[in-house]
Formats: sequence, structure tokens, C-alpha cells
Amino acid sequence: MAVAAGALPAADLFAQGTTSDVRGAKSLRAHAQLRGLLVGCAVVPGKLHGERDYADLVGAQANILVAENAMKWKALRPAPDKFDFRGADAILAFASRHGQKVRGHNLCWHEALPDWFAGTVTKDNARQIFTEHIRTVAGRYARKLHSWDVVNEAIDTKSGRPDGLRKSPWLELIGPEYIDVAFRTARAADPKALLTYNDYGIEEDSAEQTAKREGVLQLVQGMKKRGVPIDAVGVQSHLSASDPLPGAGLREFVRELGRMKLQVFVTELDINERKVEGSVAERDAAVARVYKDYVTMMVAEPNVSAVLTWGITDRYTWLDAPKYARPDGQPQGCLPFDANYEPAPAFFALRDALDSRRSNEQ
Ligand code: G3I
Repeated sequence: MAVAAGALPAADLFAQGTTSDVRGAKSLRAHAQLRGLLVGCAVVPGKLHGERDYADLVGAQANILVAENAMKWKALRPAPDKFDFRGADAILAFASRHGQKVRGHNLCWHEALPDWFAGTVTKDNARQIFTEHIRTVAGRYARKLHSWDVVNEAIDTKSGRPDGLRKSPWLELIGPEYIDVAFRTARAADPKALLTYNDYGIEEDSAEQTAKREGVLQLVQGMKKRGVPIDAVGVQSHLSASDPLPGAGLREFVRELGRMKLQVFVTELDINERKVEGSVAERDAAVARVYKDYVTMMVAEPNVSAVLTWGITDRYTWLDAPKYARPDGQPQGCLPFDANYEPAPAFFALRDALDSRRSNEQ
């Protein structure tokens, strides 16, 4: 359970620090490296190449990056006959200069589809457009990526379907086999990238998230049975500091995936503190506690090999969108660095959690 706000001041819970306490050997990437882990964040190419403080922070802290939006259909496909790889290429160029790996996100999702999609894609041409996209994009970055989120968020237990599949445009246009087609096409285009199924709302022990986790497990078990190439499952981990901490259900899920020889990545970690009351220090402490306890639990599992936060500074987080913003209008403190690029208690909590992984030397 996250620490209730007001339980302990942040200073008693986690180290505080300044920029000098968090770089080089004290950085997240250095601590992760020592334990054979990857740690990183979602990035925006325009900021990597336009905002020095942002670029400096990402370069210093991450050993793996993922495109927040630059590799989605909407960003890559300005027109049915056009691809725009400038953003994606910029992320790979930055990563190459900083010795970082890159995750691709994502080849297939029901959101972030280009404006031309609905008026252009039909049941007759969907499969061809779909496979051409995957072949072109995964082919361009073949052997250059750590992993791909091949299919994102395909499970929706509220869809009423026995297979639990979300009623996405891809399901309507191609049928349930679209998932197998996506993974097989991605593997044919890139023999190396770890092919990942990525989803959210599968972390907590609530009835709803337990059912969704079961749906993901059934999906992956079916894929393995059909010989569909899949290497990993992404647990997005958009958590809340006001919800019960994930526990036994998720741990068993990760272990079951391990028994299936699948890796698990924490792919989009951030801690929503919109409902947490109290001072900024108390809110920071509640967020830091979740970072510490959740990531400690996850990296204790040997098949968890990467932890990425969804952004790295509170200056830029999707959680400040009106729909998720704090009722008091204050900015969310949900990431390892605050809006002034200073380390938050969450940074030290995350670094402590990475350290809890049995080290390579042990
Ligand atoms: O780039 C345009 C800009 O030109 C335009 O002026 C502006 C206003 O309309 O929109 C900008 O695009 C926005 C884009 O983010 C870049 O900021 C889109 O409207 C907006 O929908 C998009 O939101 C992203 C969302 O996925 C949908 O793609 C969020 O930044 C991103 O954090 C979020 O990330 C998702 C993961 O991909 C999947 N898991 C859930 C996670 C959170 O929703």
C-alpha cells in the first residue's frame, strides 16, 4: 500500500539530492548496468534535439529509450502513400550517440491512427496496408532495435468477446488473426528485435485488472501454442499513488510468463498522484514509495529485464492533460525528475529499487 500522504515526510523516506548526486556512477543507468538491467524513458525527438537540459538528462540517465509518439502510425504516416521517419530516425541517432538501446512503440494500436485511415482502409485492403506498414517500418530499423511493441492494448475484457479482444479497427477490418499476422510480419522484417505484446491495467489485484491480466495470459498462451513469434510482454505500469500496490497477482503473472520463456518489460511507468492530498513533500513521498515498492517487486523476478518510465521529467507528462490533471490544478509529480530537472524523491526510490536486483556479481 502506498504510504498515506502525511505518514512520513519525504526526507525520512528517501534521500533528497541535487544534480551532482545523480550523474555518472550515481545515475540510474549506471546502477542498472551493474545489475544487468535496462532503465530508461519515453522521449520526444523535438526535445532531444531542441532542449539541452532535456537531452542532457536523457543522455545521462537512460540506457534505453522508447518513442512516446514518433513511431506510431499517426506520426509515421502523413499520407496513405507516404512515410515520415524523421522523428524516429532522430531518436535512433541520439541513442547511438549516447550508447543507448531503443524500443519501438508501436506497430499496431487502435489509437493514434492517421486522419486518412478511416476513409481509406477497408476490409478489402486492410491486410495489405497493415502488413506493408509493418514490413516497411520494422524493416527500416531491422537489427537496430532492442524490441518492438508489435501490438498494443488489444485486450478489453468489457468487449464481451470470449477471447477478450478489444473491438479495435484492426479486429473489425482483418479479424482476430490480425495479432498473429502482426507478429509474424514483424519477425520476418526484423529477425532480432524482441517482439512484445504491451498492455495496461493488468497490474493490480482488483477483479477488473485480474480479469484483464487473465485475458492477456490467454492471448499469449494461444500465440505460443500456434507458434507465433513473441519474446516479451510489456506491463505498462501507469500506476496510482492512491491505489493498492500491485502484488501477488502480477508477480504470479510475471512468473507464468517466465515459465513460458518470455521476458517482461516495465514499459510506461509513471505514478499518478492526482488524488493524493498534502504538501508537495508528502505527495512526493507517496509517489516515491510506489516507485520503490513496485520496481523492487518487479526486478526481483529474473525475467524482468527493463524498466522504462513514461517521460523522465514532470515538465512533460501526459498526466497533466486535463483529463488526468490534479483537481487543485497543481502539476503532477509523477516522474523521477521534477519540472526543473531536479531529482525528485522518486529518483532515489527508483535507484534504490534497481539496486535491490540481485547483482550480476552475486
Ligand atoms: O503533435 C500534435 C500537435 O501538432 C497538435 O498541435 C496537438 C494538439 O492537437 O496534438 C499533437 O499530437 C498529440 C501527441 O500526443 C503529441 O503531443 C496528440 O494530439 C495526442 O493525442 C498524443 O497523445 C499521446 C497518446 O499516447 C496518444 O497517442 C500521449 O502524448 C502519449 O503519452 C500517450 O502514450 C500512451 C502510449 O502510447 C500507450 N499507452 C498509454 C499511453 C498514455 O496514454
